Amino acid sequence: MRFDIISVLPELLESPLNHSIMQRAKDKGLMEVFLHNLRDYAAGKHRQVDDYQFGGGAGMVMKPEPLAACIEKCLSERSYDAVIYTAPDGQRLDQSLCNQLSMKDNLLIICGHYKGIDERIREKYVTLEISIGDYVLSGGELAAAVIVDSVGRLIPGVLNDETSALFDSFQDDLLAPPVYTRPADWEGMSVPEVLLSGHEKNISEWRHEQSLERTRSRRPDLWERYEKG
Ligand code: ADE
Repeated sequence: MRFDIISVLPELLESPLNHSIMQRAKDKGLMEVFLHNLRDYAAGKHRQVDDYQFGGGAGMVMKPEPLAACIEKCLSERSYDAVIYTAPDGQRLDQSLCNQLSMKDNLLIICGHYKGIDERIREKYVTLEISIGDYVLSGGELAAAVIVDSVGRLIPGVLNDETSALFDSFQDDLLAPPVYTRPADWEGMSVPEVLLSGHEKNISEWRHEQSLERTRSRRPDLWERYEKG
């Protein structure tokens, strides 16, 4: 799977995507990430990528020309399953959207900055707008990193059995159960007996019960969806 990411601050994306599971996915040849510096597509001595907004108001807007030049360059080299724009007014990212995106081959992600990108770029090129939550980030790079991480780890072969995504929270509309490691007793707090029993059926029943209880008490919205099936 290939991600192309357009950004004015590509450095922001380097560290999160060059470690741990993301690095392993790339090393295994299962995922590729290409960063495109928007400034390379901006004209003039100052390589200006933003400008004042028409109608007045605080905050700059990302100019259409450099974005269009960069997007066109990407589109001339391959077709994309989705052209994604990261924005607080997009569709909320959830596990189901991550699952869908993990089955794609090529995704192009445009990171917004300042007040956002000129609306005409959204109209002309963007096919999917994604928000990572109801808060405003100072730029779309962290949102892009969240998308690449949450989608990339679902690509078949990226995770090994130990980290299998099948047991993640949200995978079946339930939160994951609590987990423990050694020592079995720590500061007078002990690990639930059943986990030490070696009895697989009891352990899996206990985990399921804990998932149900966690979801019921912490996320009534998910619980309602789970109950409706
Ligand atoms: N850019 C700014 N805020 C954002 C958010 N919440 N999600 C995605 N992109 C953003």
